[in-house]
Amino acid sequence: MLLPLALALLPIARAHIHDLFDTTQVPFTWSDASRADFDGVPAPPLEIKPLVVSGPSSNRVDLVFFSDGYLAEEREKFFQDAMRLANDVSRNQTFHTVKPLMNFWAAFTPSKESGVGVGGEPKDTPFGLYRDGTELRGVYYAKPEVAEAACSSLENQCDYPILLGNDPLYGGLGGRFTVITPSPANGALILRHELGHSIIEVGEEYDGGFAYFGPNAHDNASEPVPWQHWLTDPSNVRVERSVMPMQDYAWTLLNTTIPWSVTFESSGTFSRHLVRFSVSGLPKATDLKVDLDGIDLDWVPRPNIGLDRWHYDVYREGGLDGGSHTLTFTLLNGAREPAAQICNAEILEFGDESEFVSTPGHYSLYPTYSINNVTTFRPTNEACLMRLVTTPNFCKACLEGLWLKLLRNISLIDSIEESCADDSSTLNLALVPLAQFRTAAVVGLDESYAVTWYKDGLVLSGWTNKTRLDGAGPGTYAARGQIHNQRSES
Ligand SMILES: *[C@@H]1O[C@H](CO)[C@@H](O)[C@H](O)[C@H]1NC(C)=O
Ligand SMILES: *[C@@H]1O[C@H](CO)[C@@H](O)[C@H](O)[C@H]1NC(C)=O
Ligand SMILES: *[C@@H]1O[C@H](CO)[C@@H](O)[C@H](O)[C@H]1NC(C)=O
Ligand SMILES: *[C@@H]1O[C@H](CO)[C@@H](O)[C@H](O)[C@H]1NC(C)=O
Ligand SMILES: *[C@@H]1O[C@H](CO)[C@@H](O)[C@H](O)[C@H]1NC(C)=O
Ligand SMILES: *[C@@H]1O[C@H](CO)[C@@H](O)[C@H](O)[C@H]1NC(C)=O
Repeated sequence: MLLPLALALLPIARAHIHDLFDTTQVPFTWSDASRADFDGVPAPPLEIKPLVVSGPSSNRVDLVFFSDGYLAEEREKFFQDAMRLANDVSRNQTFHTVKPLMNFWAAFTPSKESGVGVGGEPKDTPFGLYRDGTELRGVYYAKPEVAEAACSSLENQCDYPILLGNDPLYGGLGGRFTVITPSPANGALILRHELGHSIIEVGEEYDGGFAYFGPNAHDNASEPVPWQHWLTDPSNVRVERSVMPMQDYAWTLLNTTIPWSVTFESSGTFSRHLVRFSVSGLPKATDLKVDLDGIDLDWVPRPNIGLDRWHYDVYREGGLDGGSHTLTFTLLNGAREPAAQICNAEILEFGDESEFVSTPGHYSLYPTYSINNVTTFRPTNEACLMRLVTTPNFCKACLEGLWLKLLRNISLIDSIEESCADDSSTLNLALVPLAQFRTAAVVGLDESYAVTWYKDGLVLSGWTNKTRLDGAGPGTYAARGQIHNQRSES
């Protein structure tokens, strides 16, 4: 439903949102100069298939997966990968309730080479996707002008272009073009997180980023809280007590000669702590030992993770003693050397439950620490995929932002059609299929439409809440649809 021109203008602000967590380069920024340079670039041939479609593109937010690194004979695999991702993000929680506002499409272009490039070298593919090195981190594009031409050629059918790179492992990028892979463990998780940035226009909630803004971020605890209406205890606005004594985006390959370790200081004044890290290239528990001050944290990989990247949390009751501590990653299996990698590590310390509520579902002010250890606040501890990329849900502040952003550019009325009889007409109102018009009910969602009809500017009270108006004589008719919705806690 976005006009192609407006679409080209919108992402300027967004281009600066990208996951430092995942990338080494600043992604392509959409400037006036690049827009002019891209004029006249031909779109590649595109074979379009619907994946999950709820209504006309003129009144929906449309997401399109474009293929990169899929050979002509991998066409079926591309459509399957795209369908799996569309289903994964649109079923259940996150985008489930707003599914009637969105369309998902797949657009296939065959590539001359299969897969994504490594070592900064793109392969011969439509958008030229590549990794900087071999590590599982950002995936970049060499041909934004082709991606832009592909999306523009679809006009209002392409609001959010997604470049899907044919590689089974972790990787992605946010910004003008969302880049993902069909990694079974990570593809849908990254897609949801990046769509949070691009659709809701929220910043990060994880520590160690640099962009904290939008409806899930607050930077001064003395000022009114943006999510005041979601606070569990609105009469007691407070900052939950925690500190981050260490964060390290290591991105270092492990070897069996020297373990990788990091030393940090604790104040010794907290009651609990968390060791948070991510690793890749380590499929077995016997491949790696993670210890804190010589105490084995009994790391076990996510089942079936293979060589892919994954995030791990080790919560520990009891405070750290004041003074120096060392977190160590020891590679035990030399055969893993070419791929085994420590991606990042972090320590968080928390007060006891009276000082820091860790119970899921609690809304308050939780401190988030940027790459420079600047503190902002987020609504929940771990209830949002903008923080915990391994989980599938947005917090309520983000979910509310999602509805508001999507509805900003969608009319609840798809169409009003007139059918004529002798001297009067019947008006049929087609509403966006929410509430009683949903094709599948959403458990716990209390939703209702209110419809008001007007003739020559005056309310036709007898027709309230009707989608069909009979016997309309001469005059100017209008209808207004309003949706009310509320989600109960499950
Ligand atoms: C979306 O809606 C906002 C607010 O009504 C408006 O300012 C903006 O131009 C719209 N964007 C598009 C692309 O239609
Ligand atoms: C949706 O949730 C149900 C139950 O919670 C689960 O069995 C199913 O696998 C989920 N579907 C998707 C697509 O995640
Ligand atoms: C935070 O807000 C308070 C109250 O409005 C104000 O006095 C203070 O200067 C603000 N602090 C910063 C760092 O902006
Ligand atoms: C961040 O700042 C806090 C104090 O505000 C300090 O206790 C903590 O050690 C710092 N963390 C890092 C990683 O520098
Ligand atoms: C092995 O890993 C350690 C810790 O990261 C590093 O200091 C060292 O340079 C590595 N050795 C080789 C030969 O790569
Ligand atoms: C119309 O529907 C809304 C929402 O369900 C409801 O609140 C309202 O009472 C209804 N009005 C009439 C006249 O039925």
